[in-house]
Formats: sequence, structure tokens, C-alpha cells
Amino acid sequence: MVGSGTVTRFGVIGAGAIAHVACRELARLPEADIVAVADPHAGRARDFAERFGVERTLGDAEALLALDAVDAVYIAVPNRWHAPVARAALEAGKHALLDKPFALNGAEAREVVAAAEASGRCFMLGMNQRFSREVQTARALVTAGALGEVYHVKAYWRRRAGIPRIGSWFTRRSEAGGGSLLDIGVHMLDAALFALDDFDAVSVSGATHAKFGVRGLAEIDWGRSEAEGGVFDVEDFATALVRLGGGATLSLDAAWAMHQEVPHTMNVELYGTEAAYSAYESKLYREGGDGYVTVETPAPDDLEYPHMSRMQHFLDVVAGREPPAVTHAQALAVQGILDAVYASAAGGAEVTP
Ligand SMILES: NC(=O)c1ccc[n+]([C@@H]2O[C@H](COP(=O)([O-])OP(=O)(O)OC[C@H]3O[C@@H](n4cnc5c(N)ncnc54)[C@H](O)[C@@H]3O)[C@@H](O)[C@H]2O)c1
Repeated sequence: MVGSGTVTRFGVIGAGAIAHVACRELARLPEADIVAVADPHAGRARDFAERFGVERTLGDAEALLALDAVDAVYIAVPNRWHAPVARAALEAGKHALLDKPFALNGAEAREVVAAAEASGRCFMLGMNQRFSREVQTARALVTAGALGEVYHVKAYWRRRAGIPRIGSWFTRRSEAGGGSLLDIGVHMLDAALFALDDFDAVSVSGATHAKFGVRGLAEIDWGRSEAEGGVFDVEDFATALVRLGGGATLSLDAAWAMHQEVPHTMNVELYGTEAAYSAYESKLYREGGDGYVTVETPAPDDLEYPHMSRMQHFLDVVAGREPPAVTHAQALAVQGILDAVYASAAGGAEVTP
């Protein structure tokens, strides 16, 4: 249901660091109006409201969800609240765009999908990397067969010193559910599966390590929530090998901290029988007549989502103009793989998601 005319009236739940980034994108879209914001931290709610000219400032999600003047919500709260808040939003009849990761585990995620199906409202996980030029191009190349048979994907996001403030909810398992895997690994995992168009994981072997945060090292100043007590009980490195139903394999590294030359590197590398594509470098490698050549990426007008905006896309989904890019089944499959990485890491053996 779209609110007044063609404008979708948004409530924002969670006024932390990423809400400011995401809502810069939302606020410039004429079809969206941010009418309310909810955050238990009054100062952050107020800052957000002032910055985006939002009329209503509320102390909790329930109060926002009770407003008839809200058609849809963007949810950007600590992971532990993802599933409960998304469910409550859908049960209140709102469309919901939830930031990643989906939930603390697959059971919670399935409850959200059930609530979405019962409500008939749009629910989408806001996997913003899917809308990047790099990932869309990777997908287009695979679909066009330009790489031949893609038999392996190497996906990674590695930071040298990038642990969100130690002691904030990000580094507490009870609130985050996990560390680097759920925070940044999920982006590259989702992007790789999307590029391949294969979300069917047959087996997963994973390992996690906590080597820097436990020593109070490698912190960055990300996030607006308070750091309390210095607790760090999540991983700062995760790795996995995933076998996919279509026959390809996927390797994933997610590091909040590690010794490396560059401060930050992320990529999805697709290895095919005819060519390889390094997505975040926008480089396609294939054999030329006189040895190896490097070819730049196709033109942006080939992209499925030329606006490159998850917010524009979500408006299109709410208005019924487009099917959701991130389907419920895909979001559940990714969550299932994340769960399997942790299960494999804990048990020291390969698992079936
Ligand atoms: N898509 C991306 O690239 C991206 C980037 C960063 C963060 N995120 C995700 O966004 C979420 C928020 O991250 P952040 O960096 O903004 O964290 P943050 O700590 O800066 O902000 C979280 C905010 O949520 C508020 N909050 C806590 N419980 C709440 C509740 N029940 N209802 C309403 N508000 C509540 C906190 O007071 C805080 O202001 C996380 O799940 C994170 O994984 C996504």
C-alpha cells in the first residue's frame, strides 16, 4: 500500500551510523518521505530528525509502528533486534526494508518470512552491494555466458584494522550474533551467490578466529552506540569453503583485522572456463590472440538497476513496479550458509546447511 498519492511515507527504526548514510539516499528520492524516526537513544533520534527534517521522533519501534502515517520502515538496529522489529513491522501492516544481516539465525529469519507472507506486505533484506555497478556487472557477465562455466568464486572482505568499536554491540555475541562474518562477510557471500545465481549450498566447511579484538587491537571508530565494558566475544576472522548445487565452489574470507599491506580490500573474483572477472576491480581477463588481455567492464546502461540504489528499488517493489531483487528464499539461503559456517567452525567438520 502506498501512502498519500505516489509518496511512500517512511519510518526509520534505529538512528545510528548507517541510518544516516542510507537515508541520504532515501531522502533525495521524490517518491519517499521520511516522516518518523525511532531510537531509544533520544539524542541520536533528535540528531537524525534535525538532519533529515523529520517531524516525529519516538523512543521505541512500537510507537512508530502504531502510526497510521507510516507506510514502510527502514530498519537499522543492532542485529539482535532485526527479526523481532521486522516481524513487528510486518504484523503492523508496514512494508519493511531490513539492513543486513537478516537475523541471529535461520529460525528467526524464517519467522520473519512467515510474517511477511501472512501480512502480504513487502519485505526485503537491504543487500546494498547487489545494486553496485560491480556486482550487477558480474551478474550480467555470468548470465550472458561471457565467462563460460564459472567453476569457482573467491569472495573476500579484509580489513587491516577494522573492528567496529570494541565493547559496542558489534563485538558482543549476545547482540551481534557474530563478528566479521555477519558484519562484512555476508555482503560478499550474498554478492557472489547472486552473481552466480546459485544459492543452493550443498556443504559448508568453515573456521573462525579471534586474534586481535581480544587483545584490544585493530579498532575503528564505527557505529554510534556506546561501547560498554570492552567485551569482545565474536570472531574477527572467518573463512569458509562452500560447495554449490550447480557444481561451483565458493571460498569466503571475512576479516575485521589481519596483517596486510592495504587498509582494506574486498572483491568477488569469478573463475570461468572462458574468462575470469574481478568484480571490484572491474577487470575481465581472457586469453587474447597474442597472450593475456585485460578488458574493462561493460557500459553502465547494461545494468539491471541503473539507479544503483536499494532505496529506489524498494520503492519500485512497494509500488508493484518490480519484483524484489533479494527474494525471501535467497535471504534464507544466505542465512543458512552463515549458520553453517558457525556450526562447522564449532564442530570442526563440514556441515550441510
Ligand atoms: N548495509 C550496510 O552496508 C551496513 C553498514 C553498516 C551497518 N549495517 C547494519 O545496520 C545495523 C545498524 O548498524 P549501525 O552501524 O548503524 O549501528 P549503530 O550502533 O551506529 O546504530 C544502531 C542504533 O540502533 C538503536 N537501537 C538499538 N535498539 C533499538 C531498537 N530496538 N529500536 C530502535 N533503535 C534501536 C541504537 O540506539 C543506535 O542508535 C546493523 O545491523 C548493521 O549490521 C549495514
